[in-house]
Amino acid sequence: MNIYVTRRIPKEGLEMLKEAFGEFDMNPHDRVLTREELLNEIKGRDGVLSLLTDNMDAEAMDAIGSQCKVISNYAVGYNNVRVDAASERGIMVTNTPGVLDDATADCAISLLFSAARRIVESDEYMRSEKFQGWAPMLLLGKEVTGATLGIIGAGRIGTNMAKKMAAFDMKILYADPSANEELDAMGATHVDLETLCRESDYISIHANLCEATQHLIGEKEFQMMKPTATLINTARGAIIDETALVTHLQNNPDFYVGMDVFEDEPAMKPGLKDCKNAIIIPHLGSATIEARTKMSIMAAANLIDALTDKTPEFLVNKDSLA
Ligand code: DGY
Repeated sequence: MNIYVTRRIPKEGLEMLKEAFGEFDMNPHDRVLTREELLNEIKGRDGVLSLLTDNMDAEAMDAIGSQCKVISNYAVGYNNVRVDAASERGIMVTNTPGVLDDATADCAISLLFSAARRIVESDEYMRSEKFQGWAPMLLLGKEVTGATLGIIGAGRIGTNMAKKMAAFDMKILYADPSANEELDAMGATHVDLETLCRESDYISIHANLCEATQHLIGEKEFQMMKPTATLINTARGAIIDETALVTHLQNNPDFYVGMDVFEDEPAMKPGLKDCKNAIIIPHLGSATIEARTKMSIMAAANLIDALTDKTPEFLVNKDSLA
């Protein structure tokens, strides 16, 4: 089988691919392939192991060719793949759900606490040698224990975070098109987005990026939120209208944001990096050795199954089989 891996992933998955298919081609650079490189490299492949940084649209699928059976995405999110275009061409699309739930929820929780207790500002304060000793009004933050947490998107990761934060006696609200029995059973309240925005002290986004969630949070929602609220995003950048966010941060110094993902990733919206009330990290939600290793095993297994006439366990588009 002629496969291509668009960027080095942890060795466990690469070893599985080697055992299944022998030597294979992989992006030799430690960077995202340019569009031109991507279209050239994937040409004629039976399967491609792609990353969320690869735009696998209809043009890319045409470049691969009609022999292609599978695009195995090394991520749980697959908004970088035009799934409808893949299904039309009979190309299976797979992802890596479940194994990064703890890592991503933990990352969201780290951002939440860092924002609540102004950890990044405090670190900067120390490094710039401003500390003159304990002071009653120095860098006061906000309590997490007993506050209200609003979860937008109550799937695996949102549920994981809610369960962990319940240990801090947080009141949990969630907004999602479907009710979540696990959250309901632990006393969380299913609310609409407006109620969640108005009542939450902390809001964490865990929805998929799709047409319905693009700019789900914009100027209107910011106006509903408490001026002292903290918003966390470890899902996808474009769920927030970041231009509106920067204006809101500039006008509301007590409103905080913790961001792991960005609308124009890797670029940041102008003004964002100057906002002291923003904590910004480079898309690290799943960045633990454990999660990334499991993702590499899963992505390799998906690719191998698809190319050895088995239905991959984590097939996104069952209609591709028809
Ligand atoms: C995903 O898997 O979708 C994360 O954003 C990166 O691991």
